[in-house]
Amino acid sequence: MGSLTIMKFHFNIIQYRVALRRGFLAPAPTGAMKRASKIAHALGQFGESTVSVRTGKMKLAGMWTAPGSHTAGWRMPGSVEGTAYTFRHTADIAQICERGKMDCLFFADSNLMQNSDLLEKRDIAMERQSAPARLEAMSVITALAAVTSNIGLIATATTTYNEPYNIARRFATIDQISGGRGGWNLVTSQHVREAMNYGLEDHMEHDERYARAEEFFDVCAGLWDGWEYGAIVEDKANARYSDMSKFHMLDHAGRYFKVKGPLNVPRSPQGRPIIAQAGASGPGRDLAARIADMVFLASSDMADCKAFADDVRARAEKFGRKPSDFTVTPGFVPVVGRTEAEAREHYLELQSQITDEQAIGAIRHLSGGLDLSKFPLDGPLPDLPPTNGPQARQKILIETARRENFTLREAGRWFAQSFGHNVVWGSPEMIADFMEEWFRKEACDGYCILFPYYRRGVTDFVDLVIPELQRRGLFRTEYEGSTLRENLGLPVPKSIYA
Ligand SMILES: Cc1cc2nc3c(=O)[nH]c(=O)nc-3n(C[C@H](O)[C@H](O)[C@H](O)COP(=O)(O)O)c2cc1C
Repeated sequence: MGSLTIMKFHFNIIQYRVALRRGFLAPAPTGAMKRASKIAHALGQFGESTVSVRTGKMKLAGMWTAPGSHTAGWRMPGSVEGTAYTFRHTADIAQICERGKMDCLFFADSNLMQNSDLLEKRDIAMERQSAPARLEAMSVITALAAVTSNIGLIATATTTYNEPYNIARRFATIDQISGGRGGWNLVTSQHVREAMNYGLEDHMEHDERYARAEEFFDVCAGLWDGWEYGAIVEDKANARYSDMSKFHMLDHAGRYFKVKGPLNVPRSPQGRPIIAQAGASGPGRDLAARIADMVFLASSDMADCKAFADDVRARAEKFGRKPSDFTVTPGFVPVVGRTEAEAREHYLELQSQITDEQAIGAIRHLSGGLDLSKFPLDGPLPDLPPTNGPQARQKILIETARRENFTLREAGRWFAQSFGHNVVWGSPEMIADFMEEWFRKEACDGYCILFPYYRRGVTDFVDLVIPELQRRGLFRTEYEGSTLRENLGLPVPKSIYA
């Protein structure tokens, strides 16, 4: 990491939010954003007011949540039908991201049909929600491994409704099939109704889910380490297939799991799959700090994002890890146009697709059980009871609604555009300016790019924004290595038996 000086500028995100509040019809006033961008470029990014910033290249993950990260993106005239379940389209997304030399493509997942509570009540609002279909993520990335060559492939799997032996084995297999490009987004399940698909009435309590996740990961890591490289010798002359000294029994007996081991899949090309983690609570951050190679988060504010990153970096030190041992990549939703005017039109068109039902539907799972349909749409967001689901996302919703004085309808519409992730619209240069600022100021190490819909939502970023980042020297033009770990610049972890 080097150090340069950079002009202090800050895009006026408040102005941008004002556009959101005005029913998305008012022209979005991006004057401050444009001015900052122009000044920065005129000055070659440098000016008198100086702060220390880093040089180097950012990391870019893509995140695909079918049929797109924007609640109503699927209604856009150019949006392709069937993207949620047609593998050809998913393969196309992965290949486009690979063409852009992105580090990895990541798939969120959950073990339930979203909004199935509405279905149960035969509430017609169910029909407006866009995410009933979701192919199982580990299966998807396994198939993608066969139609891609360089891009990392990350699937979400929960530690709350799985057993470590299954998960360790499947990810080790994926890492073999992909030649070291596999990754696991380790979650504890944010949807409380997942419990009901596993014979339980109630979702395990938040902190206990994390206690189970800690042990779950240790079992997986122990199983992955149970094979040393060179364990299979295939010595035909001496009829010796393997070298027993390179296998290790696990013999784990803990609070939640009893696992003998070993695994029946060899140590993978990158030692073990990349671990991504997106916990935002105290226990979630501790877990990320201890085990994650990639830390995901939702944040629309640079100072908040930096505070989060610094907090996880400080926690990691307590576990003997360095900030360079992992990357922090906040979610980021680019809505791109070739010009500012085109981008504004694109953004307003997207927002105009959101119905009130979709807006309220987008925040239902954060309501802590409160029936939001009983409250006036133009009144304030009511006080929400605590949730046993996504607590951090609920906090973002409440804080943003209070700060921006959003009505219930506005809060829903704001959340529906990205589920709490940072949405930035603009020309490729404006979007690159925004991304550059957070990166240079060490608020993040890169971004997790959420695509609002398919196909334009993907190609615009790869074909228009990535070249601009490359032109500025902020992003690679070729993959550095063949494994995801190499491309992230992370070392192969030491085996516990080494
Ligand atoms: C980028 C990103 C992707 C996520 N993907 C999933 C997912 O696929 N499945 C899931 O259950 N939770 C997912 N989450 C939620 C987190 O795992 C976590 O539950 C949430 O950030 C709240 O943190 P906490 O559990 O520490 O309270 C995601 C979060 C972020 C920021």
